[in-house]
Amino acid sequence: MMKAVIFDLDGVLVFTDQYHYRAWKEMADKLGIYFDEEINNRLRGVSRRESLEIILERYEGEPLTEEQIQEYMTFKNNRYRELLTEMSPADVEQEVRACLVELRDKGYKLAIGSSSKNAKFILEKTDLTAAFDAVSDGTNISQSKPHPEVFLKAAQYLGVDPDVSAAIEDAKAGIDAAVSGGMYAIGIGDAADYAACDASIKSLVELPALLENLV
Ligand code: BG6
Ligand code: MG
Repeated sequence: MMKAVIFDLDGVLVFTDQYHYRAWKEMADKLGIYFDEEINNRLRGVSRRESLEIILERYEGEPLTEEQIQEYMTFKNNRYRELLTEMSPADVEQEVRACLVELRDKGYKLAIGSSSKNAKFILEKTDLTAAFDAVSDGTNISQSKPHPEVFLKAAQYLGVDPDVSAAIEDAKAGIDAAVSGGMYAIGIGDAADYAACDASIKSLVELPALLENLV
């Protein structure tokens, strides 16, 4: 019997891929680096710094200093936050809100487990903050997914043990994080066909029944 449900944010509850893509693309263009949506897909669930490192795999210039790395990450994040200001409650599908309300009504504790340092900003913009009992995000971890820290902290904030917690993820790195944290790992979207998942769903509509059927 599960007591808590921990949701990844980007790609599960809201879809920020295009904003990340546009912001990273502008940064890559400044450095003359080829960047496309396929490379952008590799950045799902990955921290900002590791994302930059993946983009820099195609960089042919002089190695960047730590100061330059920080400057480029700041450039990307400022641009990303500008784009995020376009988000509103309308960016959350009704079935997502309905799922969160139903799970709460059924007594589950709900948390966010996101690698993003912008998670709380996105939750505010989309009016999702009050739907959760706790938020664990990029601001409270030192190791990002596939390390389980962000999910373990979420369970800790909820006061629930990992083995009675389910994590919902769209990134393989997130599924690995949930599994290594000892949680029940549920894949959605791109992670749905990943072999390491304990279960997969096509939409959050399926989630309450899936959890109910776990013994
Ligand atoms: C994850 C996204 O949720 O957050 C990644 O899937 C992103 O693509 C990561 O790199 C870090 O986000 P931020 O907002 O801290 O730059
Ligand atoms: Mg995600």
